Amino acid sequence: MKLRVSGEVTVPGDKSITHRALMLAAAARGESRLRGLLPGEDCRSTAAVLRALGCDVPEPPAGGAELRVKGVGLEGWRAPERALDCGNSGTTARLMMGLLAGRPFCATLTGDASLRRRPMRRITDPLSGMGARFHEEGDAPGRLPIRVCGGGLVSVEHFSPVASAQVKSALLLAGLSAGVEVSVHEPLHSRDHTERMLWGLGVPVETVETDGGWRIVLPAHDRPLPPLDLRVPGDPSSAAFFAALALLADEGELRVGDVGVNPTRTGFFRVLARMGGFVEFHGERTEGGEPVADLVVRPARLHATEVGGAEIPSLIDEIPVLAVVASRAEGETRITGAAELRVKESDRIAVLVENLRALGVEAEELPDGMVVRGTDRPLQGDVRTAGDHRIAMAFGVLAALPGNRIRIDDPSCADVSFPGFWSLLDRVRADGSAGIPRPAPEAGAVHSRHADGIIVAIDGPAGSGKSSTARAAAAALGYRHLDSGAFYRAITLAALRAGIPEERWPGLSAGELEALGVEGTAVEGGYRITLRGEDVSEAIRAPEVNAHVSQMAAVPGVRGWLMGALREAGARGGLVADGRDIGTVVFPDAELKVYLDCAPEERARRRLLEQGASDLSESAVRAEAARLSGRDVIDSTRAVAPLSRAEDAVLLDTTGLDFAEQVNAIVRLARERSGLDPKSRRG
Ligand code: S3P
Repeated sequence: MKLRVSGEVTVPGDKSITHRALMLAAAARGESRLRGLLPGEDCRSTAAVLRALGCDVPEPPAGGAELRVKGVGLEGWRAPERALDCGNSGTTARLMMGLLAGRPFCATLTGDASLRRRPMRRITDPLSGMGARFHEEGDAPGRLPIRVCGGGLVSVEHFSPVASAQVKSALLLAGLSAGVEVSVHEPLHSRDHTERMLWGLGVPVETVETDGGWRIVLPAHDRPLPPLDLRVPGDPSSAAFFAALALLADEGELRVGDVGVNPTRTGFFRVLARMGGFVEFHGERTEGGEPVADLVVRPARLHATEVGGAEIPSLIDEIPVLAVVASRAEGETRITGAAELRVKESDRIAVLVENLRALGVEAEELPDGMVVRGTDRPLQGDVRTAGDHRIAMAFGVLAALPGNRIRIDDPSCADVSFPGFWSLLDRVRADGSAGIPRPAPEAGAVHSRHADGIIVAIDGPAGSGKSSTARAAAAALGYRHLDSGAFYRAITLAALRAGIPEERWPGLSAGELEALGVEGTAVEGGYRITLRGEDVSEAIRAPEVNAHVSQMAAVPGVRGWLMGALREAGARGGLVADGRDIGTVVFPDAELKVYLDCAPEERARRRLLEQGASDLSESAVRAEAARLSGRDVIDSTRAVAPLSRAEDAVLLDTTGLDFAEQVNAIVRLARERSGLDPKSRRG
C-alpha cells in the first residue's frame, strides 16, 4: 500500500502566541479582539488562571472564531481565592509567575504531576533578585506549588544560562507588570513572540545581538497597555507533524496553510531541507507582526544530518518529530545541545529513545541529545507517551505510514496543543485534504515590522545598477546590504571548483549544496561571503563565474535552497536587498520595493563606463544596448525566476538621474516608509 498526500490542511493557532495574547489582553485596558486562538488544554489553563485573578477571559473558542476580552488593566487584577492550576502548561506557570511578581498580592501556582516536576528556579531566582518573594510549598525544591508575593520590584539585568523564551518572557512581563526596566541576556535567540507583541502594543523592547548571544531590554513603561486586535497564525510546531507525514509519504504534495514562520521557530523546516526534503514557504506575508506562509511539502528520500548548536532553540519543540523523521532517513542522525529536552513535559530524550527502540529502531541517548539510525524496515510495537502530547503526535505520524503497526498508549494527550489532531491525521491519510476551518485573513492586515528597521527590496533589469545603488542606499541608511546575486555567484564558483559538471547542477540536493561550504556572515554594512572559510568576494567576479552564474541561478532547487538563507538574513530587517525575485518571492512583505528601470542605451553607457571600456562611441553604445535588450527579453520570458515587477513596487526610472540622485530617491522613500512604521532604529 502506498500513502499519497494531497490538498491543503490548516492547523490550530500557535500555542505560544495564544498564551501571550490572552495574558496581554487581560493586562490591557479595553476590549481586545483575538482570532485564531488555540483552544487546546494548555491555553484553557491560561484563560482559567486569568479568570481566577478577576479578569474576564472566556475559553478560547473552537475553530478560531473571534474572542473578545475585556481587559481591566493590571491594577484590576485581584488576589485569587484558590491556588492557580496551570495544568500541564509550563508557559502558563512561568509567564504568569512574571506577571504576578509585579502585582501587590500573593498567589499560589500549581499544576499537574508533569508540571510539578519541572524546574522553576530559573524563573524564581531572577524574580527574587527584583524583589519578589517565593515560598516553595511542595516537597521538591524549586518545583510547584510555589506561592509568589509580588510588588515593589526593582530593575534587573539577568544573564540566563539557558536560551529559554519562558525565562526571557517571565522577566520582561515582570518588568511590564512592575513598570521597571529589565534586561535579559540569552546565549542563543529563543522565540521572540513576547517582544514582537509588546512592540506592537507600543512598548519599545530592544533586541540586540551581542558577542555572547542576545540582549533584550524592556524600558520602564508605566502607561496602560492598549487592547489587542490580533489574528494568531497556525502553529509551526503543529504543522511540523503534517510536514513530516508528507515527507515520509510515497507520493503527492501537501499544503499546510497559514502557518507562522517566525525564524525563531522554523529550524525544523530548515533541517528537513538539509536532509533532502522538499519544503517550501509560499506567499510569505506578515500578520500582527509575525511572518506567515503556506508550507508546501512533497515526499522525498531523506538522509541523516547533524542537528545542534544555535539552531536548537528554533526547533526545540520539534525534536520528537525530528527523531521520528530521522528513524526513516538514510544514515545516522545526531542531535546535540538539547539538554533542555530532559525538563520538558517528559524527559524527551529518554522517552524518545525508549520508544524508538521499542519499535525496532537503533537509537542511543546522549546527555544532551540522541543518535538515531534510520531504517526502512516496517516498525511495530507499543509507544509509551508518558502523557507528553508531542511524543504522542510524533509517533502518530510514524503509525500513519503504510506497513507500520504501532499502538500509542494515550493518544488523548495530544489535546494539550492540538485538539483534532487524530481526526485530521485520519483524513489526510484517507484523502489528503480537509482541515480545521480558520477565519480568512482580513484585507489590509497589519504590516510588517522587523527589529532592526525596514526591508528595502530592489529589482530591475540587467545593468540598471541594482547592486551599486542598493549598497550606497544601505550605507546612507545605516542598513546592511544583501546582494543575492553574489550568493548565486559563490555557489557557481564552488560548483566549478568542485568540478561538478553543469548538467548535474539541476539535480544538486540540499545536502550537496550545503556541502559546497558557501557561507554569508553578517558584517558591518553587509555580508562577507566565504567558501570553506576563504573570503571569495573578489573571486566571484571572475569571467568564468560570469559565464556560468545564470545557469546556476535558473536551477529551482538552488533558488529554493538559497531563499531560506536570504530570508534568515532579512529576519531582523534593517536591510537593503537586491536581485532577481527579491521583492516578489524572497521578501514579498518588504516595506519598500523599488523597481529600477532605465533606457537600454543609458544602461549600456553606464555598463561600458563601469567596465572601463575605451570605446564609448555611439555604435559601441548601441551594440551594448542591443545586447542588454536581448537579455531583457530572455530574462522576462524564462521559466524560472523571470524578470518581473512586484505589483506594489515603486517604479523608479533612472534614465535621467545621476547615481547620487537615484540613491537619494531610494533613501528618501525608505525614510518615509520607516517613519510611518517607527521601527527603523538599530540595536
Ligand atoms: C515556549 C518556550 C519553549 C517551548 C515551549 C513554549 C514559550 O520553552 O519549549 O513549548 O511559549 O515561551 P523554553 O522557553 O523553556 O525553552
